[in-house]
This record gives sequence, structure tokens and C-alpha cells, in this order.
Amino acid sequence: MSSGTTKIEMVLNALRSVQDPDLKKDLVTLGMIRDLQVQSNGKATFRVVLTTPACPVKDLLKSQAAAAAMSVPGIESVDITMDAEVKNRLSTTSKGLPGVQHIIAVSSGKGGVGKSTVSVNLATSLALDGARVGLLDADIYGPNIPTMMGVTENPKLTVHPEKGEIFIPPMSHGVKVMSMGFLTQGDQPVIWRGPMLHNILNQFCTRVEWGDLDYLVIDLPPGTGDVQLSLAQMLPLTGTVLVTTPQEIALQDVRKAFHMWEKVKVPVLGVVENMSYFKGDDGKVYRIFGEGGGELLSKKFSTRLLGQMQLLPAIREGGDAGRPIVVRDTDHEAANEFRALAREVAREVAVLNAASEASSLEIGAFH
Ligand SMILES: Nc1ncnc2c1ncn2[C@@H]1O[C@H](COP(=O)(O)OP(=O)(O)O)[C@@H](O)[C@H]1O
Ligand SMILES: [Mg+2]
Repeated sequence: MSSGTTKIEMVLNALRSVQDPDLKKDLVTLGMIRDLQVQSNGKATFRVVLTTPACPVKDLLKSQAAAAAMSVPGIESVDITMDAEVKNRLSTTSKGLPGVQHIIAVSSGKGGVGKSTVSVNLATSLALDGARVGLLDADIYGPNIPTMMGVTENPKLTVHPEKGEIFIPPMSHGVKVMSMGFLTQGDQPVIWRGPMLHNILNQFCTRVEWGDLDYLVIDLPPGTGDVQLSLAQMLPLTGTVLVTTPQEIALQDVRKAFHMWEKVKVPVLGVVENMSYFKGDDGKVYRIFGEGGGELLSKKFSTRLLGQMQLLPAIREGGDAGRPIVVRDTDHEAANEFRALAREVAREVAVLNAASEASSLEIGAFH
């Protein structure tokens, strides 16, 4: 055995001390360490392949991995490349959208709570972190994603040899965008109902050429009606992010939404409390709509409070101008809050994925 091999083994062993805090296993067991090499000058190089580029603990894991490698006698320097592979181990990808790893539905009990605002900032944030992202505006009653993403170009219609006519979605802020708003005529109200609605949604979902995506974010219509149920049955949703405002929390709508998702067996990834507070110029925080609701709700339904978003004119202005706050005011505290929210969502998806992988392995063991 050459001394190089031994060093590699020693570094690998040292890396077993570094745990992914969410997946609760070490990086080696998780198969995250790749292309490990040790040069004769004592330089160790390797890649750490995370389950999402939007990993909230990326920097922490990098520094822990570096420290672990450096603790091995004879290792003089470390060069780590942080990488990611988003995978769906839920084996649901074949149903409908083969190239799409995870579908995250953004939902709410009622309208006007900031569902579209959360959708655009979530999708754009995931893209800013390096993920391949699509955004589907399924709010057929109020499709305003094109405006909020600043998309001016319509999707291109082309003919696919097997699928027939398909739409190529336009791209904005690094996100592929498709909306019912592209297909309806200006300000005409949408009056589709029942089976017709189901058919339209089906076409709309399956006739878009998304290509390979890590995440497809769907802005659902508000409420707990036909469209939500149709979509939940049509698409293999990984989970949903439920948006509420503090004052909405006490209302029946959110509870209804929880029960609906439970019924269709779509996991609630967590709750976003939007318009949580307003921060004055003096830095003072005003809880305009009350306090603690998001936390109460998430406790009651055993889910996580993923974030509390402040009420800020720049958030609305960003939406109106087609420049989400995360690209409009990159240094603003609110932009960072949305970036952090996106990483929490990515974290929940990764944890869910790992849990289902573990349970499918257990199931496999019985066969
Ligand atoms: N945190 C926020 N701060 C300020 N304005 C917001 C915030 N969230 C949403 N808005 C604004 O409130 C309005 C409703 O939000 P929207 O995302 O369209 O809600 P929904 O999709 O749930 O109907 C929009 O004008 C939006 O710009
Ligand atoms: Mg909306």
C-alpha cells in the first residue's frame, strides 16, 4: 500500500467526524465526499457534494471538513470544492415531469397574503444559490407571476417529436417561468370550471418543456378548492409551503388548508408568516398584525415556521417592477431573509428526501 492511499484513508476517517446536522449522518457515510486526493506536498483536495446548492449550513460544513482534514498528520493544506446534486429518491419523478427533481407548491388558505411574492423570491433565491429552477404560475384566477418576474416575452410553441406541441418557457432572473397569464387574453376573467379546468391544468402542466430542474416552484391559487386538489393529484408534489399573515392565522382558512394537504398526503414543508412586522426608520419593530401566530400554528400542526417576512414597501415595489427584492436590493435585510427562507425550504426538502430514502431502504429489506 502506498503512503498516498493511507493518507487518503486517514483523511476519509477524519471526515467521518463531520456530521450533516440535518441528515444526522457523517459526510462519508452520506457519500458526499468525492474525488479525494492527497498530493505528495501534503495538500488534500476533494469535493463535498451536498443535497442542495441552497444548503443553509454550507459554510459550516466546509470549515468543519477543512479542520478535520487538517487534523491528519502530514496534511499541510486543504482545497475543498463545495458542490451539490439535487436528487429525488421518492421515485415519483416519472409521474408527469421526468426531468424535475422536486416540486414545491406555495399555497395559502386565502388570497392576498403574499403567496406570489413568496413564490417569486423563493424561486429566484434558489436560482441565485445555483439551483436549476422553474416557476409555474398555476393561479389561474390571478396569474401575476409574469409581472412579478418581469417577463415580457411569451413562451415559444414548438413541436416535439413525441409529445406534440409544447411550450418553451421564457427565462427571467435565472428562473424558467410559465404562467396561465401567457395564455389568457389580457384582463378577461377566467371562467373554467370542473372537468374543463382539470384538462386545461393537465395540458398546462405536461406540455411545458422544463428540461432538467432541481426545483419547480408552483404558485397555487389561494384556497382549498378544485384546482389545488387537481394539481395535487396530477403532479408528484414534494411538499407545500403554506403562506399566512399573522392575522390570518386565527382564521379557519389555514386550518382547512392543513387538513386538505393531509387528506391528499402532501407534506407541509412549513409555514411562512408574511407581513409579520414593520421596522421603522428608528429600527423599532412594530407587530402590526399581532404576534406569535405562526409559531402557534406550526406547533399545533407539528410543522416548522420557516420564516417571518417583514412588511416592506420595497417588497411590493419589487413585485410591481418585475424585480424581486432578492435581486432588486441584494443587501437589504429583507432580501437576506428571503434567501434564508429559500435555504430552509431546501433543507426541509432534503430532510424529507433522506427520510423517505431511509424508509424505502427499510421496506426493501423485507423483500
Ligand atoms: N412582505 C411584504 N411587504 C410588503 N408588501 C407585500 C409583502 N408581501 C406581499 N406584499 C404585497 O401585497 C400584495 C399581495 O401579495 P401577493 O404576493 O400578490 O399575494 P397573493 O399571491 O397571496 O394574492 C402585493 O401587492 C404584494 O406586492
Ligand atoms: Mg398571487
